[in-house]
Order: sequence, then C-alpha cells, then structure tokens
Amino acid sequence: MRAACAFNAQLMDYIRPYVKAGITTQEIDRLVHEYTIKHGHKPATLGYQGFPKSCCTSVNDVICHGIPDNYLLKSGDIVNIDLTTIVNGWHGDQSETFLIGTVSDTARDVTQCALDCLYAAIDALTPGCPISAMGDAIVAIADQRGFSVVREYVGHGLGRRFHQEPSIPHYPTRQSRQERLYPGVCFTVEPMINVGKRYTALDKQDGWTVRTRDGELSAQFEHTLLMTEDGPEILTQTQHGPAKGHRF
Ligand code: MF3
Ligand code: CO
Ligand code: CO
Repeated sequence: MRAACAFNAQLMDYIRPYVKAGITTQEIDRLVHEYTIKHGHKPATLGYQGFPKSCCTSVNDVICHGIPDNYLLKSGDIVNIDLTTIVNGWHGDQSETFLIGTVSDTARDVTQCALDCLYAAIDALTPGCPISAMGDAIVAIADQRGFSVVREYVGHGLGRRFHQEPSIPHYPTRQSRQERLYPGVCFTVEPMINVGKRYTALDKQDGWTVRTRDGELSAQFEHTLLMTEDGPEILTQTQHGPAKGHRF
C-alpha cells in the first residue's frame, strides 16, 4: 500500500503543472493514462463498473465522478482531479481540487474548507478511535463556515480492492460511532463540501457525473491513510500539493 500510494502521489505531482486554463479534461486523462502505463501500472477507474476513463475530473458544481471530456478549463473554474492506481494489485486513491486562474472568493473559500476538513479529520484520528471522530471534525468546520457536507458518497477501506469495508462517512452516523479504526487498516478520507445545500443529483445521461442539486460549487480533497500503532500515516503525500495548513 505504501508503494501504490507513493506512485499515485507521484502521478498527482506529475499532472499538477498541466492543470491550467486551456487544457481539456480529456487531455489531463490522457496524461494520467500514459504516465501510469509507462511505469507499468494500471489506472483503477478505467473499466471500473463501466467507468470509461483513467481518472475523474469534477468541475465547479460537479461533486465527484466527473468523466474527462472535451471541456476546456478556464480561469475561474475549480476542478477536482481524482486519481487511483493499481500497483502490483494494491490501490492508491487521492484527489485534489485545483483553482484555475483567478477564482471567486466563494470558490476559494469552499476549496479551503474542503482541505481544512480533510486535515481536521486526519488530526482527529488515534489508534482504535471511532470512525465518527472524522465526521464530527468535518461537520464542525463546514457548519462554522456555512457550507454543507455531502452524505451520499463516502470514504472507504481499500487494499487489493478499490472499495471495501469500512465505510467512512464524512458526518457522524450510528454505525460510525460504533466502528473503530485499529492499526493495520487502510482507508480514504475524502470530504465533499458544498457551498449551498448538501443534496446531490446523478446525471441521467452518463450515469456517473454527480452534481450539486442546487447548482452551487463543490470541492473535495482525498488521501489514503494507514492507521498505525502511533496514529494515522498519510500514504498519498505529494511533494508539491497543498499540505496541512496551506492557504489558497
Ligand atoms: N476515486 C473515487 C473514490 O475516491 C472513485 C471513482 S470510481 C469511478 O472513491 F468509477 F467513478 F471512477
Ligand atoms: Co476514494
Ligand atoms: Co478517489
């Protein structure tokens, strides 16, 4: 898992300079695909339950699972790039939201909130803690800033499989208050934060794209973590991405 996630983070750093105004999301997807194959690995999303591309690109009001296409990124957009690679049978999964050119204060604030929620969730983790420690931390920050937390899509355990137990909701639930994270478990945290209401709408045409129901912006960051005897280890740490405490 360390090797898979290290490669996935390296891939994020590789595509980072290309995520600018004037590139299409399918060109980003091609770069992701070529880099992954060149290194002897496999994009996990390609063909996953019929998903057609090697990454997810979610622009503006798209919450997650956006399909790369001929959309040209322009100044003012925010775009989440979600990368998942299979390395020797193991999965690394992470995402970042990128600000394209000059963005609105709201776009910046919701992106900042999503990053802060991710790191607040990680900071709340201790060996054997309830899964709800993360949801409590995320909801506290989002509420305080007047944003909402998506419920229909959650973080997940992963390893040889892309999605497995445990489920990692980004808000507290009865189950997440009972289930604990013991050393040895790998899982993602990937809070999706909406400017408006938390409600989602699945695109009827493509069956994948998830948008905010009210058309307002949404932002997300994701890491794969390993719980150790000493606390959480971030397996998908990049060299150049926004780290804890980064200000957009
Ligand atoms: N990478 C996403 C996650 O964080 C899942 C994408 S599945 C796809 O779990 F099929 F939409 F690509
Ligand atoms: Co994930
Ligand atoms: Co992901």
